[in-house]
Amino acid sequence: MIENFKLGPINHVGVAVPDVLAAADMYRRVFNATDISDLLELPEQGVKVIFVNTPAGQVELIEPLGAKSPINKFLEKNPLGGQHHLCFEVANIHNAKAEMEAKGVRVLNEPRIGAHGTLIIFLHPKDMGGVLIELMETPEPDHA
Ligand code: CO
Repeated sequence: MIENFKLGPINHVGVAVPDVLAAADMYRRVFNATDISDLLELPEQGVKVIFVNTPAGQVELIEPLGAKSPINKFLEKNPLGGQHHLCFEVANIHNAKAEMEAKGVRVLNEPRIGAHGTLIIFLHPKDMGGVLIELMETPEPDHA
């Protein structure tokens, strides 16, 4: 039996920036943030990532990696950077994908491993009130 779809907590807000190191420094300087990850390069996703951890959720700073990066176009339109996507946790990505498709929401990719090491999908912003939504399977507490 497929469990009912249940929206989990906000895991992170994705913010596209031209330079993740400079952006992380801004969070250190302005907010005295100290719980900040190392820089992560994800060539298969075309991004460099740094996570700024807060008491509830993360800011996911993403910088394009390579000419084919999916966020190059976003940064052309928003040269300073800007809010790029919003990510919610779900228990099971395959159930979530089936549920979204049954409701007529376009799912942009087959489930794949995301920056947190769990399966993710993206939902079309035109079906979601203008917001690019990422759904991710809840990570194990060690990797949260
Ligand atoms: Co994300």
